Order: sequence, then C-alpha cells, then structure tokens
Amino acid sequence: MEEILPHVIELKETDQTFDLRVFVPEGVPLEIEIGCGNGRFIAANAAKHPEVRYFGVERMMERVRKCSKKAQQGALDNLTIVRVEAGRFVRELLPDRCVRALYLFFPDPWPKRRHHKNRFFQREMCDTLARIFVPGGTMYISTDHEDYFREMARFLSEDPRFEEVPALIRPEDEQTDFERLFLSKGDPIYDCAFRLKA
Ligand SMILES: C[S@@+](CC[C@H](N)C(=O)[O-])C[C@H]1O[C@@H](n2cnc3c(N)ncnc32)[C@H](O)[C@@H]1O
Repeated sequence: MEEILPHVIELKETDQTFDLRVFVPEGVPLEIEIGCGNGRFIAANAAKHPEVRYFGVERMMERVRKCSKKAQQGALDNLTIVRVEAGRFVRELLPDRCVRALYLFFPDPWPKRRHHKNRFFQREMCDTLARIFVPGGTMYISTDHEDYFREMARFLSEDPRFEEVPALIRPEDEQTDFERLFLSKGDPIYDCAFRLKA
C-alpha cells in the first residue's frame, strides 16, 4: 500500500497489506463508490457528512488526480481514493461486515456478450455484498445501459438476502460527470437500490 498523492493510496496487484482499521475507526460508518471517476459525487458527500468515512475506488490515473485535487481543496480528511482494480478490492481486500453503502454509478457496460465477464457486477457480487455489508447495508446503482441495469436488478431481486428500497436521486451538486452528460442529452437513466436484510 502506497500513498501516491494526497488522499490517494495505490494497491498493486499482489499487495496484501491493506488494513481497513487504519482508515476507519471502530464505529465509524464506511461508504464506498466504485469507479468514482472525477469524484464529483464522493467529494460532495464527504464534504456534507464529515462523520462518515468515504472511499472512492478508481483505477484511471487522470481521474484519480482530479479526485485528489477535490479532496485537497475541500480539506476532506474523511475521503480516501483507492487506486486498485475494484473487483479485487471488494472481493479480496475488504473484511466482513464493514460497508454501509456501496455506490455504482454508470459502470462500464461491456455491451458485447463475450465481454460480460468483465462487468463489475456479476451474480457472484451478491455473495460479496452479503459478506462485506453491515446489516441494512445498501447497494445503489445508476446506469444508462438498460440491459446491464436489468441484469443487476434481477440478480439482486432474485436473492432472498436483499430487499429493494427507494433509489437514490441525487441533487445537482452530487451528480456524476457521466450522469450530467446523459441528462444533457436527454438519455434515460435507470436507478435502483437494494438493502441487505437485517
Ligand atoms: C463510465 S465511467 C463512470 C465514472 C463515474 N462513476 C461517473 O458516473 O461519472 C466508469 C469508471 O469506472 C472506472 N473503472 C472501470 N473499471 C474499473 C475497475 N475494474 N476498477 C476500478 N475502476 C474502474 C473507470 O476508470 C471509469 O472512471
């Protein structure tokens, strides 16, 4: 684990040194955004909720840099950007029962069938969520891609460990860059949220 920029740690492929307790004191809620892009949503939330610990997971360096800048400018001590492959982070590096909310906004849809295996959210993700969520932990999803949306919503609604709850409709200052792009074009956006039953 290496701090590569202010508010940014990088976890290399073989790195097993990540210790969540270094970042999240006992009793402090943890919320994570997967593929946080330029950090608009996560930085706005970190500024509004200093009592919550936020991780933004992002692998593209240019976007990581922009997130770092936002965290510095806002003096957001409760925000860390983790540069890592997101699937590995949630599956292998997060301990049991540590996450209160996981946000997945406009994930890469990998539209060709033979590329579906690259999608972040596959059926097995339900097992990972059931492991890492605290009771009541909630998965929030938004995407412009109807097929991927229906698949994620089906996986979660078919799993008896989860129940559907109202989706998150974000105020303007929390909308992500991709969200603003799709909204400006008038494209439909699909949202849902599912909570781990207590
Ligand atoms: C389509 S963009 C959406 C960005 C942001 N959520 C938004 O709505 O503006 C998808 C983002 O996820 C990141 N990403 C894709 N696959 C990833 C992975 N396996 N691990 C970490 N980040 C990933 C990309 O670098 C990119 O920033």
